[in-house]
Amino acid sequence: MISLNIEKTFGFVSKEKVFAYEAEVKAAQEMLEKGTGKGNDFLGWLHLPSSITKEHLDDLKATAQVLRENCEVVIVAGIGGSYLGARAVIEALSNSFAWLQEKKDGPVILFAGHNIGEDYLYELTEYLKGKKFGVINISKSGTTTETALAFRLLKKQCEDQCGKEFAKKAIVAVTDAKKGAARVTADKEGYKSFIIPDNVGGRFSVLTPVGLLPIAVAGYDIEKLVAGAAAMEKVCSSDVPFAENPAAIYAATRNELYKSGKKIEILVNFNPKLHYVSEWWKQLYGESEGKENKGIFPAAVDFSTDLHSMGQWIQEGERTIYETVISVENTNHKLEVPTDEANLDGLNFLAGKRVDEVNKMAELGTQLAHVDGGVPNMRVVIPALNEESIGSLMYFFEKACGISGYLLGVNPFNQPGVEAYKKNMFALLNKPGYEEESKAIQARL
Ligand code: PA5
Repeated sequence: MISLNIEKTFGFVSKEKVFAYEAEVKAAQEMLEKGTGKGNDFLGWLHLPSSITKEHLDDLKATAQVLRENCEVVIVAGIGGSYLGARAVIEALSNSFAWLQEKKDGPVILFAGHNIGEDYLYELTEYLKGKKFGVINISKSGTTTETALAFRLLKKQCEDQCGKEFAKKAIVAVTDAKKGAARVTADKEGYKSFIIPDNVGGRFSVLTPVGLLPIAVAGYDIEKLVAGAAAMEKVCSSDVPFAENPAAIYAATRNELYKSGKKIEILVNFNPKLHYVSEWWKQLYGESEGKENKGIFPAAVDFSTDLHSMGQWIQEGERTIYETVISVENTNHKLEVPTDEANLDGLNFLAGKRVDEVNKMAELGTQLAHVDGGVPNMRVVIPALNEESIGSLMYFFEKACGISGYLLGVNPFNQPGVEAYKKNMFALLNKPGYEEESKAIQARL
């Protein structure tokens, strides 16, 4: 289970002011529970963990097994909410060097459809040459350009290289029940498909097949992931008192910090495997709160790596930031610093200590230094990097995000701002239906 510590924000905002949010948080939680707030048609994530059935998980696991047995490589094609959750969990749980190992414990998982890099896609198709590969094509709308473009290339290569029969078995769609090109293609080609519920938006969809299928294909226990989230659903539920509810406290604290002029939240980790959890978190909070000319800017750093770059700015730059540290209590492996007779590096004072002890002192030292430098600090502690903890952590952030968005007064469940670039891109590419926009944009160039 996770725990939240906000003690190191109290030199910057008062405990009284944070706790004064109690009534507002209660109202926000009621809006979520009763569906009376903005964006109330996208609340399917709220009780998702406790409502996922064993049959559904079995269906996902059976499909994952087909891909695991038949494919050397599986490409997860998706972008934004249809990509980051799966990547976050898989990278948090994977051996950092899994893809370099000779003997593999399942297919290599790669990602596509989240960029339009010609070199990226060329190099991917080159890597896939001669390999038996599958594709999980994930898109709620079924029409997202980045994903559709990658899927077009991958589908053709899979069929050309492995045959139509193999492709039918190795391509799976995760999309809307009825609409969109991904649905049409899946039905026409006879692909196995999973439905993304209408009432779950992309960035809240990690516990739907969007996240669960790729995670199961990667060999991780989706039952445990869901169980971790379900446990957190209880801990953060609206009947848990404010003072004991970590989602409520986190939402209140960040809003109070924002009011006090701290406009940027930096999510910090001291474990490189959490890099994509931060990417997922950035989307969750950025898309949910950044609207109507307001919202905390969600940034992220990987420490201690980035202490040697962004550390300077954080210590002494403009004082508009606060940090939220994800601290992992226990490592999954043990490694001690060896003794060295010559001690040329002067590190014998560390001999016999666990590497993690050094990391933990870097974490503590950084916290103290940054607080001294004017940076409020919150800590979210998780026991270890495993399925339960990551499931808990993600649900915690989702629940807090829903509350926090309502505290800010925005609709946390829409993302109107992401359409602007698409309209311009389609106009510039002369997409049929965009004739007027094409003329207008050409006139501007
Ligand atoms: O959160 C969101 O809504 C977005 O990030 C979408 O998930 C992303 O744009 C992908 O959309 P789709 O699943 O329709 O391809």
